[in-house]
Amino acid sequence: VAQVPILTTVLVIGAGTMGRGIAQVAAAAGLTTILHDAAPGQVDRALELVARDLQKGVTLGKLTAAEREDILGRLRPAGSLSEAVPLAEVVIEAIVEDMAAKTALFAELDSLAPPEALLATNTSALSITEIAAATDRPGTVLGLHFFNPAPRMALVEVVRGLETTDDTVNRALELVVALGKRGVTVNEFPGFAVSRINAMIGNEAFYMLMEGVASARDIDTALTLGLNHPMGPFELGDMVGWDIRLKVLEHLHATLGEKFRPCPLLRKYVAAGRLGRKVGRGVYDYRDEDRRGRKDAS
Ligand SMILES: NC(=O)c1ccc[n+]([C@@H]2O[C@H](COP(=O)([O-])OP(=O)(O)OC[C@H]3O[C@@H](n4cnc5c(N)ncnc54)[C@H](O)[C@@H]3O)[C@@H](O)[C@H]2O)c1
Repeated sequence: VAQVPILTTVLVIGAGTMGRGIAQVAAAAGLTTILHDAAPGQVDRALELVARDLQKGVTLGKLTAAEREDILGRLRPAGSLSEAVPLAEVVIEAIVEDMAAKTALFAELDSLAPPEALLATNTSALSITEIAAATDRPGTVLGLHFFNPAPRMALVEVVRGLETTDDTVNRALELVVALGKRGVTVNEFPGFAVSRINAMIGNEAFYMLMEGVASARDIDTALTLGLNHPMGPFELGDMVGWDIRLKVLEHLHATLGEKFRPCPLLRKYVAAGRLGRKVGRGVYDYRDEDRRGRKDAS
């Protein structure tokens, strides 16, 4: 195992849902954390949301007001990429899920980052290998796939592209531990580990509903109480959004084959606009949740 340098500075690029969560995790772990976003005002908004989230932690007694101040003190907005990238031992990219945007950014990182810096992408589904090929140092490029919300989810998938070196993977695994998370190593393949299995469970649950095996509520109860899943596949899909689920399944069907063919009933829900909590109705009905509690949609 290669000698792991003691890390001090992380640069997170993209201050949206994932970027701000990852930045919060890094700052809470004691690292100087620089945050950058292309959209004006976005870093300030992200820092405000982090401050608010940490305040909740103080209210709940999970950290002290002084610890909150320390964490916020370690979070810095980046002036420009040309100033920030040369300072970073680790860069974690969490910008829009778009290959052209990511390859353009990694080409720029290649020209600015210290030679030994880890260059990580938080992509959900794009090819690490293709992103790495935009640089002249694909050996130090990898995926660090955090889960939402990053401060509360314990897992990080450490994803290796074709050229990612063992040294890079080992340093990344050390980093994940330093961030207070658990890492698993996954070779780049569609869906990595978690999304692939999760897509399969959600799709199979829909096939069971379609075949009349059991009600949605009973399938959810079966998985929560019978397998100790924290929530059932329908509850989870309603939270994530079935349109997003369908996209993932279509991608896995195209790349991995027949076993991921999206269930026709799932397609029907998406066609009907029953996308989940975000529209008030998915497999379950949330429209009158405040008044009467959740009930099965008819
Ligand atoms: N949301 C999730 O549950 C989740 C989970 C795991 C991984 N991901 C992945 O993480 C990445 C970010 O997702 P998100 O949900 O945080 O998105 P988001 O839309 O909330 O945030 C993206 C941010 O990136 C900024 N941005 C876009 N292009 C940029 C550029 N070229 N340079 C700098 N900043 C730029 C945007 O202004 C925005 O603030 C995506 O690749 C996504 O697939 C998302």
